[in-house]
Parts: sequence; C-alpha cells; structure tokens
Amino acid sequence: MKQLLTLLFLSFVALASVQSAGAETRLRTIMNELNMNTMKVVDGVMREDFALIEAGATAIAEHEKAPMAERKRIVGHLKERASGFKGIDGALHNDAVTVAEAARARDLEAVVEGLARIQRGCVACHTGFRQEVRQLFYK
Ligand code: HEC
Repeated sequence: MKQLLTLLFLSFVALASVQSAGAETRLRTIMNELNMNTMKVVDGVMREDFALIEAGATAIAEHEKAPMAERKRIVGHLKERASGFKGIDGALHNDAVTVAEAARARDLEAVVEGLARIQRGCVACHTGFRQEVRQLFYK
C-alpha cells in the first residue's frame, strides 16, 4: 500500500513537471490548484473531515485571479460572451463559500449538494470555453 502511494505520488510529481514545461498560462496553474482543492473537498467528504472540506472550499472561493493580461485577452476574444465566462466564475465563488459554511455547520448533505454545484460550474466553463481559450493561448 505504501509503495503504491509512493508510486502514485511520484507519477503525480512527474505529471506536474511535464505540465509546467513550456509557455503556459497562469490560468492553467490556477486551474490545477482548483483541481487539487476540489479533490481535497471530495477527500474530506469521504473522511467526514470538516476542517479539510472547509479548507478546500475556502481555497476554491478565494482562488487567485488570472493576470490582467490573460484576462484582457480572454475577454477581448469572447466579446459579448465574456459575461458568461465571468458569470460562471462568480457562481463558483458563491458555491464554494456555501460549501465552506456547510462544512462549518457539519452538514455533510449540504456539502455534497454544494460540491455538485461547484463541479457543474467547472464543467460548464470547460464545455463552453476551454477549447477556445486554449486555442487563443497555444495555437
Ligand atoms: C470560468 C471558466 C472556468 C471555470 C469556472 C473552471 N475552469 Fe478549469 N479551465 C478553464 C480554462 C479556460 C482552462 C484551460 C486553461 C489552459 O489550458 O491554459 C481550464 C483548464 C482546467 C484544467 C486542466 C489544466 C491543465 O493542466 O491542462 C483543470 C484540471 C481544471 N481546469 C480544473 C477546474 C476545476 C476543478 C474547476 C472548478 C472548481 C474549474 N476548472 C473551473 C476554465 C474554467
């Protein structure tokens, strides 16, 4: 078991270093942090570790903003659809705050509902915009 965990950890480190090679957006790093924090919430749910859930959800709610230059480029490209992109991000913030509150109240049911809303937000933005944003930065 320990060996398996070490192996998993090492492959994760290897993967992370591959991902950080070359010119990438700061947004991508922020996304990987969001992913880690979402996993933290999932882990907390399964362990009924409310402090872990709260920490993950708070980090999601307070996620770093992409640098101004990246945001400008995205907004400039999406034009009238930029409000959709920003709207999903705003909802993500509110949903994460709700999950952190539910964790403080030790309400696992509300945490799981909020987590589902968070994940729907991630997926909504990815489905709607990821490919396009990637093309904008990496074409
Ligand atoms: C407002 C839009 C938006 C929201 C909300 C969003 N993402 Fe993303 N996500 C993106 C975009 C755009 C990319 C592509 C970034 C790039 O490749 O530079 C991305 C890429 C990713 C990636 C791939 C990173 C990589 O190394 O290629 C992961 C993982 C990810 N997001 C996780 C999440 C999680 C978890 C959430 C929700 C908690 C989330 N995202 C919410 C827009 C969003």
